[in-house]
Amino acid sequence: MTRGKGVRRPPQTRAAHASGTVPGLMDWYRDSGRHSLPWRFSRDPYVVLVSEVMLQQTQVSRVIPAYGAWLVRWPHVFCLAAASQGDVIRQWSGLGYNRRALNLQRAASALVAAGAESVPVDPAILITLPGIGRYTAAAVASFAGEMPVPVVDTNIGRVLARRYLGLGSVRDASPSRLWQLAAELLPAAGPAAREHNLALMDLGATLCRSAAPSCGSCPVASSCSWLLAGRPVPTAGTSVGPRFETTDRFARGRIIDALRRGPHSFDSLVALLPSPHSAQTGRLLSGLEQDGLVVRAVRGFWTLPGDD
Ligand code: ADE
Repeated sequence: MTRGKGVRRPPQTRAAHASGTVPGLMDWYRDSGRHSLPWRFSRDPYVVLVSEVMLQQTQVSRVIPAYGAWLVRWPHVFCLAAASQGDVIRQWSGLGYNRRALNLQRAASALVAAGAESVPVDPAILITLPGIGRYTAAAVASFAGEMPVPVVDTNIGRVLARRYLGLGSVRDASPSRLWQLAAELLPAAGPAAREHNLALMDLGATLCRSAAPSCGSCPVASSCSWLLAGRPVPTAGTSVGPRFETTDRFARGRIIDALRRGPHSFDSLVALLPSPHSAQTGRLLSGLEQDGLVVRAVRGFWTLPGDD
């Protein structure tokens, strides 16, 4: 993104503009970072948590409208804690991996039940909540709380693996080595650390992409170990999975989509699947039931939880 008129910028401290620990990175970020992503304007840990959980496995372009609509409906952790599970799963429509929605609501309920008035920013507390792993806990602490903590997602990991370890793929590096590197590079002040983490993330998402990286435009190209080594091919291969429409994940999504519209009989759910087999449907429903995403209602009908 260029520094054009009308581009809203999140508040940045003077320290955040300092040259940083990765030469060239912060100047590039100031001019080319994804500053207009809506969640970057907030320091509310609930708001940032919602965005991070949505972004865990879903593209930014899909998350933007879903994030806005979610916060209109449930603007505070208290509202989400009081929502029905069925409504939460319905509102998650279009994002996939529906367990994330349930876990987000379970996290909100656990916090409110424990007497919290808001989502905490302490990563040691966050990581105890359902659906929150090391990345998400660190992201909320850094992006909302401006705590000086390292953050490593796939994009940041790829930048670090290439620039410092000379490895082509994040999957060639050990996660603990990447977290250690991220910690070593972190600026001491929380606001500067936040900007640094976001800058690494944006570099990975926009230039240092997994396939076809734009090394010609990269601000750290002259010191990149991977580029200087002639861009060795990653050893961890990219596995091509089965066609999505043939996977259990697709079929589970189909079932949840149907139940978002209302209760269904077992037979009508069987008929929805690409290859309608009652044994497969029974197996999928058992898995969804165990995950808490569906419940058996009266007369053999299935519903979302809270709709029965
Ligand atoms: N900004 C903060 N967290 C982000 C994420 N997970 N993906 C994209 N932009 C972000």
